[in-house]
Amino acid sequence: MDVKNDYGISIISNQHYKSEELPEFLNQEHTMPVLKFHQSLKGYEPTPLVRLDGLAELLHLKAVFVKDESRRFGLKAFKGLGGVYALTKVVCKELGLDIEKITFQELCSDTYSEQIKRMVFVTATDGNHGKGVSWAAGLLGCKAYVYMPKGSAKIRAEAIQNAGRAEVTITDKGYDDTVRYASEMAEEKGWYLVQDTSWDGYTQIPTWIIQGYTTMASEAAQQLEAEGFPAPTHVFVQAGVGAMAGGVTGYLANRYHGQMPVFATAEPEDMACIFASIKSPDGAGHAVTGECHTIMAGLNCGEPCTVSWPVLRNHVRWSFSCPDETAALGMRILAAPIGDDLPVISGESGAVTTGLLALLASCPQLEEIRSAMGLNEDSVVLLFNTEGDTDPENYQRIVYGGAHALL
Ligand SMILES: Cc1ncc(COP(=O)(O)O)c(C=O)c1O
Repeated sequence: MDVKNDYGISIISNQHYKSEELPEFLNQEHTMPVLKFHQSLKGYEPTPLVRLDGLAELLHLKAVFVKDESRRFGLKAFKGLGGVYALTKVVCKELGLDIEKITFQELCSDTYSEQIKRMVFVTATDGNHGKGVSWAAGLLGCKAYVYMPKGSAKIRAEAIQNAGRAEVTITDKGYDDTVRYASEMAEEKGWYLVQDTSWDGYTQIPTWIIQGYTTMASEAAQQLEAEGFPAPTHVFVQAGVGAMAGGVTGYLANRYHGQMPVFATAEPEDMACIFASIKSPDGAGHAVTGECHTIMAGLNCGEPCTVSWPVLRNHVRWSFSCPDETAALGMRILAAPIGDDLPVISGESGAVTTGLLALLASCPQLEEIRSAMGLNEDSVVLLFNTEGDTDPENYQRIVYGGAHALL
């Protein structure tokens, strides 16, 4: 479906949709231990599920919920969920331990500390994943090297360093080449590569990372139930490589089988690899290339994660590519709530789905798509604010200064 609109949003319905194929690695049996692991960490708390009734009323929807990951582990983003689970799985594997039979406190005790101290992890990141890895390395008492693509904000590099135990380098390469560089360094030095995307021959650690992300979906589902909603009707997830979107979608597809919500992805225009893959008739994941200067730094990734792509191919109904203005709109909407709604601090990559929902639900030009999606006064929409103001200067420019306004 090609709906022309003044907002620069591209829309596609998924011809590969096949909801009966549920991803086993994201079912209750495989994800319950992940939730239990996170719950065992010091400082663990479920992040808030913020109910925005004022916004829902304005948009003529029944309910809008935002799972607010800006509060996760004090890291301002959800990514630590994947990092800490994957690092701990690697450590346990190396030490011949079972993550389900040992507590995190036991793992960090003197019994194992000498062995763990010698382990070195490496990753590439545009910010949030590196912060999660650095934090996890700090908790476990091992070391991490983190490489960032050219143009990365210094403040993000400092935040990674300060989150835990990592040496951070901003490279002269784009994101995808930085990932390749981190992988080469791992090979050369014998470090453990802990990357939040997968490719042929590198799937185990990304699978753990994706499973790590399901904790936020699991918490959200429980919180929704406590609010009296057995299931959402619509779930919007933003995508970079699609690992988070795949983890959340796959978990919720398993959980809500029988009353399946409509899943939708949102990506930055010019770097929309999930959109491009959904559009392609062959059903394979496709990379997009070229430079992209989006404000959505966390979503600026051109190669779909091979582990999560099949989940998205089977379960996403609608895919959107969005200009920066969509994300900026979402940031302002969440920062300036209506009525009794609480404010949510949402960064560029966290807010794009809110901006998209607001436009979809209210703009006359998007009425056809709104109706095709079944977005109406009976809809219960679940969004994930995946980051807070991880780039505070840019946050102020957009929210206070009105940068990237809709025309
Ligand atoms: C804030 C934020 N949201 C969403 C994403 C997208 O996650 P993925 O790359 O798994 O699609 C990222 C990735 O870094 C991110 O930092």
